[in-house]
This record gives sequence, structure tokens and C-alpha cells, in this order.
Amino acid sequence: MPVTTAVVTGAAKGIGLAIAERLISEEAHVIAFDRDADGLSAAASRLGECYEPLVGDVGEWDDHERAAAAAEAAGDLRWWVNNAGVDWVSAAHEATPEHIEQGLRVLLNGPVYGGAVAVRHMLHRRTGSIVNISSVQGIAAYPRYYVYDIAKAGVLMATKSIAVDYAPFGIRANAVLPGCIETPMTYETLDPRLPREEALRREGEQAPMLRVGQPHEIAEVVAFLLSDRAAFVTGAGLVADGGTSARVYPFPPLDLDSL
Ligand SMILES: NC(=O)c1ccc[n+]([C@@H]2O[C@H](COP(=O)([O-])OP(=O)(O)OC[C@H]3O[C@@H](n4cnc5c(N)ncnc54)[C@H](O)[C@@H]3O)[C@@H](O)[C@H]2O)c1
Repeated sequence: MPVTTAVVTGAAKGIGLAIAERLISEEAHVIAFDRDADGLSAAASRLGECYEPLVGDVGEWDDHERAAAAAEAAGDLRWWVNNAGVDWVSAAHEATPEHIEQGLRVLLNGPVYGGAVAVRHMLHRRTGSIVNISSVQGIAAYPRYYVYDIAKAGVLMATKSIAVDYAPFGIRANAVLPGCIETPMTYETLDPRLPREEALRREGEQAPMLRVGQPHEIAEVVAFLLSDRAAFVTGAGLVADGGTSARVYPFPPLDLDSL
């Protein structure tokens, strides 16, 4: 039986690295596609030959093609995860055309290119599963995330579009919408005046679960959606956010001790 291969973008660290590790635990060969060559090398020396680094930029169509070709050379390309992203802060009045284009290039073009290349390579086998990493910010806006929020909403629609067009041909596409997850991206957003643990604790208070999530908790959801365990699931946006998007306003938790 040929090896199942998976392309995972942004797999050098954070959520993408956790996804790569999770898929390797399911015997997949992972094409770890990231622009961070040093990060890829460090992960490769730890994870071994099932983690195949590919230095590239998700804003470049040809780099997606290179990733697909590497996956086909190693086995059957069945899984594709568009995960790479950047924290991109601006309100509309601050955003310049260059800032908008640079942000959309990674956050929106990346998954849109990746999805298009993935289906072209999956169609002949009439099977495949794509997962796009959107965000809770794809369904509700966070202050000063104009470009990011727009891109993440677009990622959700790119998912549904592929799901609808290719469901009859055995290809599924789903999105995961994480809340705040402890990754290098999140570290960059924390208040530098606070010890990291305290800053993370405060960040976690935005979720009804009163904590931030961990990368492996997103990887678990991705692995489920990719697998045949989710055989009847396509076009879905699955929130994994500790309840964040279920709440209208940040009310304090119930005081059950006083009852
Ligand atoms: N961390 C969170 O709280 C959170 C919440 C919701 C959604 N997300 C989304 O999850 C995804 C992963 O985020 P993370 O927190 O792990 O981020 P991270 O910054 O920790 O890791 C992102 C990875 O993507 C790579 N990358 C960035 N731009 C790239 C490009 N142009 N080409 C190739 N690789 C590129 C980076 O080198 C890095 O290895 C992103 O799409 C992010 O928007 C994160």
C-alpha cells in the first residue's frame, strides 16, 4: 500500500509543526512547507525522514506545485493542510495598499493557491482531504485586525467552494477555526512587560474555558477532519476555541461557590 503523503504549510513551528507531528504518528509522510529554513532543519533533525522539509513561500504558486510534486514523489498525496499565516495588525485607517497586499498574499492567496494546487493533484485519484486553518476571527472581528479578519473569512469560503465543487469527486475540504493558541505567533502579541505565564493566563481569560489552547489540540481536530473518520464531513468550519465564539460579551464566569 503506498504511503499517504500530506503537505502541511507553516510546518516549521506552532500549530503547523504540531499537525505534522500528529500526521506522522498516523504513518503519513509529511512535506513540511515553510519559509523558515532553520526552523525546518531543527524539526527535521528531531522528527526524522517522515518529515520532509521544503523551503518555500505560500504566496508563490510554483512553491505549492513543488510541494505537490514532492508529495507525489514520496507516495499518494491524500492530505493537504493550508496552515501558514502571519499576525497582521491594522485598523482600516492605518492600512496602506502595500500592507494590505502583503497580508492577503500570505493569509488569503496562500490557502487559495494551496487549495487549487491540491485539488488538481488529487482529482485523478478521486480521493483527498484538505483542511484550511481559518480562525474565530473569520466569523467575528477582533479590534485592529482588518486584513487578517477579512482573509480568515475568505479562507472559510475557499473551503466551502472546494467542498461543493469536488464532493462528487471524492475530495473533501474543511476548515478549523482556532481561538487563542499558545504558539510563537501568540508570544509576539503578549504584553512584554508581563512574565509570559501571566500574560498567557490573562489572554486565556478571553475564553470561557479560561485558558489558551495548545497546538496539539488543534492538530487533533485537523487529523480527524483529514481522516476517513470524518468521511461524511465536508464544507464544515469547526471552531476549536475554548468556547470563545459561543459568547456574546465577556461576562465573568458563574460564581458556583456562592450557590
Ligand atoms: N496562534 C493562534 O492563536 C491562532 C489562532 C487562530 C488561527 N491561527 C492560525 O493558525 C495558523 C498557524 O499559526 P501559528 O500560531 O502556529 O503561527 P506561528 O507564527 O507560530 O507559525 C506560523 C508558521 O508559518 C510560517 N509562514 C509564515 N509565512 C509564511 C509564508 N509566506 N510561506 C511559508 N511559510 C510561512 C512561519 O515561518 C511559521 O513557521 C495561522 O494561519 C494562524 O493565522 C492561529
